[in-house]
Amino acid sequence: MQDNQVQIFDTTLRDGEQVPGCKLDTAQKLVIAERLDLLGVNVIEAGFPVSSPGDFTSVSEISKIIKNASVCALTRAVENDIKVAAAALKYAKFPRIHTGIGTSDSHIKFKFNSTREQVIERAVKAVSFSKTFVEDVEFYAEDAGRTDNAFLAKVCEAVIKAGATVLNIPDTTGYCLPEEYGAKIKYLRENVRGIENVILSCHCHNDLGMATANSIAGVIQGARQIECTINGIGERAGNTALEEVVMVLKQHPYLNLETSINTKLLYDTSILVRESMGMPVQPNKAIVGANAFAHSSGIHQDGVIKNRETYEIMDPEDVGVTESAIVLTARSGRAALAYRAKKIGYELTKIQLDIAYDAFLIIADKQKEVRDEGIHEVMKKVNKVSKIAVA
Ligand code: KIV
Ligand code: ZN
Repeated sequence: MQDNQVQIFDTTLRDGEQVPGCKLDTAQKLVIAERLDLLGVNVIEAGFPVSSPGDFTSVSEISKIIKNASVCALTRAVENDIKVAAAALKYAKFPRIHTGIGTSDSHIKFKFNSTREQVIERAVKAVSFSKTFVEDVEFYAEDAGRTDNAFLAKVCEAVIKAGATVLNIPDTTGYCLPEEYGAKIKYLRENVRGIENVILSCHCHNDLGMATANSIAGVIQGARQIECTINGIGERAGNTALEEVVMVLKQHPYLNLETSINTKLLYDTSILVRESMGMPVQPNKAIVGANAFAHSSGIHQDGVIKNRETYEIMDPEDVGVTESAIVLTARSGRAALAYRAKKIGYELTKIQLDIAYDAFLIIADKQKEVRDEGIHEVMKKVNKVSKIAVA
């Protein structure tokens, strides 16, 4: 792996699918898994096999068909979970077991009624046991975001010795600030023996809306894997959105960090996940929301019509959206009306545009958005316009 390559670990089918209402059957999961492989993700977390027979089957069937990505299965630091995960991954070309345990004082005390020493012991055992089945073992330190850095470093060092290949540092509760999360990754890189031999992974939740910023802070400080989901779906406020981190890295080339994602497939993949899960995407969602490339105020529309880059920092075609939308509302100006009218066949002179614009505003004040039928109505009011219709 090149030093500037950031691995994309997709957990749509595990952390994403565990959300109420997002449940998928095996056939639906297979379709999404194949699409993720085509999209170019490096790892597909296919499920948590011990959790149900259905999830076991899904992981097993996905393992059979995925050609490029590693297929990963989640476990707790529990022997039976690991055995079951290994069985589900039997047919995977590149199998990975993802095992781990909570490391924050709150998890140790309230979830496990345990001690730091016992948690390290369980972590090491889980990794060593996983290594008896597969070479590629990822360890997660659940609630690492709220774990004391010195203790986290101890845990990491112990599991590296036990054979972990990837260390996942989850901000499970979405609490960290980007600077804090980045500093945590930096601290681990500077204080854990053997860290240079493993990949550090960012797994950030979005409870305070900082999942993307935290993941990017993590890779800037040397992490080389981001765990994320399509449309940012996931527990509570969701996980890091795959499309966001991928486009942040693409649009900021000076960071010198790349992914293997075919970004032109992002929009279609978003639709596939949205429709399969019945989980709508908010219109103002970055990259894949319906309004992500729509312009409705007159000042913005005028700029975009003159040159797209005035109000767009990326080309919609780069994410698979065919073109920017100029949406006509009562805040739109003449430039937008002339632009949309031309698209449906009306080339207007300056005088015709003035007349059309007055008629347009009357309609626009009554509607949220003026669509093509509304423009035709407006044109009926413009003298002789049918003679100069171009389409
Ligand atoms: O958020 C989290 O900590 C997780 C782990 C199970 C990896 O999803
Ligand atoms: Zn998570």
